[in-house]
Amino acid sequence: HLFGYGTNKVSGFFEPIEASKEDALVLPAGYKYDVVAAFDDIINPAGDKFGQNSDYNAYFPIEGSNTRGLLVNNHEATNIFALGPVKDGKLTQQQVNNDLYYQGMSVIEVFQDGTGTWKMDVTSKHARRINGFSQFELTGPAKGIKALKGASKVQGTFANCSGGVTLWNTAMSCEENFSETAEAAGLEQTHYGWVVEIDPFDGSFLRKHTALGRFNHENTAMGLAKDGRVVVYMGDDKKDACVYKFVSSGKYVPERGRANSDLLAEGTLYVANLKSGKWIAMTYDAVSKALSDEKFKVPSGVDGKKEDVIKKFKSQGDVVTYCHEAAMILGGMPTDRPEDIEISPFDNTVFICHTNNDSHGNVHGHITRIFEKDNDLGGTEFDFEIFVAGGRQSGFSSPDNLAFDSNGNLWVVTDISSSSHNKGVYQSFMNNGLFVIPTAGPSKGVAMQFASGPVESELTGPFFTPDERTLFLSVQHPGEETDDLNKPSSLWPHRPGDTKPRCGVVAISGFKLG
Ligand code: FEO
Ligand code: CA
Ligand code: CA
Ligand code: CA
Repeated sequence: HLFGYGTNKVSGFFEPIEASKEDALVLPAGYKYDVVAAFDDIINPAGDKFGQNSDYNAYFPIEGSNTRGLLVNNHEATNIFALGPVKDGKLTQQQVNNDLYYQGMSVIEVFQDGTGTWKMDVTSKHARRINGFSQFELTGPAKGIKALKGASKVQGTFANCSGGVTLWNTAMSCEENFSETAEAAGLEQTHYGWVVEIDPFDGSFLRKHTALGRFNHENTAMGLAKDGRVVVYMGDDKKDACVYKFVSSGKYVPERGRANSDLLAEGTLYVANLKSGKWIAMTYDAVSKALSDEKFKVPSGVDGKKEDVIKKFKSQGDVVTYCHEAAMILGGMPTDRPEDIEISPFDNTVFICHTNNDSHGNVHGHITRIFEKDNDLGGTEFDFEIFVAGGRQSGFSSPDNLAFDSNGNLWVVTDISSSSHNKGVYQSFMNNGLFVIPTAGPSKGVAMQFASGPVESELTGPFFTPDERTLFLSVQHPGEETDDLNKPSSLWPHRPGDTKPRCGVVAISGFKLG
């Protein structure tokens, strides 16, 4: 059947595709993709190379253009194709260097040429890498505290999963599964697990905002409270971990431009309790009050003896650094792996992908929708519903990243782990895909498949140009189950002569304007 996904800005139609096992990026008839950048491609005159395992994308128009801009891309992890085989689970020094180099972020310049093909402009003066070797300034309550060894600057960013754009035209990037890389490189764990902010147009602007908490950050979704304070929603992508929001102390002033970034240094971090429908303020006062109660017991999800837990928290800096523990102490609700969060531009409801949690039999995940009281993102009470559940009936499993189009459709990518592909209850879903789910109208909640990724890949980081004629999308970790470099399980994107797969970013076009 044909599905019309709107008549406002985009009037295209597509015929949903079937699930696929092909080693290809499959799109509906009438749509095409161009690979704009792939792993190890040179991105600038200095010879810097595109990183591995692309995740989040954000397009920043140059002079308002829909056909030339800077593309910010996250590099979440490395694998055998960047490091080579790892002996006895221990990286060599060269492998550690590659691990730090190929993670992080790329800023590249992209354009659509006269024939409609999207390309990377490798002569760009803006194109650069931000990775495990870059220097970041810390902001907020954990800057300079003992738990961070007094640091006000730290080395590097890695495990950059999803992210978000700010109201002042910068990009946020989220450090998710940072622990292994930090350990292999001998770097301090507390310097990672933060939200990073960069300015694609200014290479000197690199910040980590500690007020937003330290955990396995998936993404940021920024909006405004009714009174003008900045609100940032965030998920902690672990089994039995929480949903958070940060509300700034000060108000957003558009004329201040990038100086509004200072708002992210001071505010209140809240954790959600889905049973009471309350956002719990994570203040040091609240934590120390809970700890000094003689009936205090170490909650599940927190390691260590009571005395040690009590000793851990001496300031707001410790609360944000040991955020999950503080959340458990204050009554935050553990959930099923919260991944991407998006705020509906139509009604301010908040969509959260809970990807899955096999510890409680939630093998296909679901998308939760939060209704803030009085529609105010700055509020402290909410209601929620399960907007849609994964599984056979909906046709998708394990939702991960989200993007809205201007007609109120959610674009949802899936992340069934590669080791489960085509097995057991995941069989019918085949390779991971991209689905379109209307949030209103007669097809509300009905998922239609728009794309299928290559073998052992995950599609990540869907992001539209402002005119919605182009959709940027990452193809992450094709062939990642490979253990013998002579026998890769994928060769996507099948460049002539290639002997290994190359994750990367594509630009999808074919969307018609109404
Ligand atoms: Fe990196 Fe939570 O996905
Ligand atoms: Ca993700
Ligand atoms: Ca995921
Ligand atoms: Ca991933």
